[in-house]
Amino acid sequence: MHSYHEPVLKEEVLRLLELRPGDHAIDGTVGDGGHAEMILEATAPDGRLMGIDLDPEAIKTAQKRLARFGKRLDLVRGSFRDLKIHAQRFPAPRALLLDLGLRTFELESSGRGFTFQKDEPLLMRFAGEGEPTAATIINTWPRNEIERVIREYGEERYSLKISEAIVAARRKKRILTSGQLAEIVASAVSRGYERGRIHPATRTFQAIRIAVNDELEALHEVVPQALEVLAPGGRLAIISFHSLEDRIVKRAFRQAQDNGRGIIITKKPVVPSETEVNKNPKSRSAKLRVFQKK
Ligand SMILES: C[S@@+](CC[C@H](N)C(=O)[O-])C[C@H]1O[C@@H](n2cnc3c(N)ncnc32)[C@H](O)[C@@H]1O
Repeated sequence: MHSYHEPVLKEEVLRLLELRPGDHAIDGTVGDGGHAEMILEATAPDGRLMGIDLDPEAIKTAQKRLARFGKRLDLVRGSFRDLKIHAQRFPAPRALLLDLGLRTFELESSGRGFTFQKDEPLLMRFAGEGEPTAATIINTWPRNEIERVIREYGEERYSLKISEAIVAARRKKRILTSGQLAEIVASAVSRGYERGRIHPATRTFQAIRIAVNDELEALHEVVPQALEVLAPGGRLAIISFHSLEDRIVKRAFRQAQDNGRGIIITKKPVVPSETEVNKNPKSRSAKLRVFQKK
């Protein structure tokens, strides 16, 4: 058994969701069930929770971890992108949580090529199976599309050089592993890349993963659905891990407020305390925003 993903901003999420006994909630990214467990405890004795995740491994883990909650728990293998459909069989929730990105297991142990620190098949799919995989994008997309993905989703200055290096390398040999891709990227950028603060492949890997899973589009689509599905007065909490996601959430909330759909609870994003970042360095880029439906 692997260790569970460490949920970020737990106390802040709990405080801002204002859950009471008997409230129902949807966790759109249930993962290893850390936040879900906290929510189920706060809504005892009879609040129900629907937990959604694309990754079948996450559903298995959450099932085991949360088994003690019995009928209060409803797990769904699917995308939060289809929230409205999934929520049809569930009472209107008082709280809806999205904790974006990937969990520790996916990054470190799934064998799906999410990390440049290992040499694994280039899949990068949350759902495990399906298309496109990262290898499909890297080996078949036109150079200019790869360049755009790396520039837009990775906010990478060397996107042109990296895309050229990828295309030159794939002419010689198909790029099928994360190790191969990491090497190609590292060889394309200058030696002093970001003064050594991050590995040269960090942004490219983030970019390709976002493209593989169509992550930004999914986020765009889920906010209006969440606002429909929530009970009146219910709260939507979204934790994002990079500026592209946070910008989408910020704009969507502002637009919803301007359209009279409710109010923004977090004027500024809530970030982890120093203590949390020291304990769990992966939390350092987390930003939590909360919206309350009218
Ligand atoms: C940061 S983890 C969530 C961890 C969780 N809060 C916990 O306490 O264990 C993000 C999860 O979202 C899932 N995911 C990513 N995109 C998704 C989508 N569009 N629909 C559903 N799940 C998604 C990933 O598979 C991953 O398990």
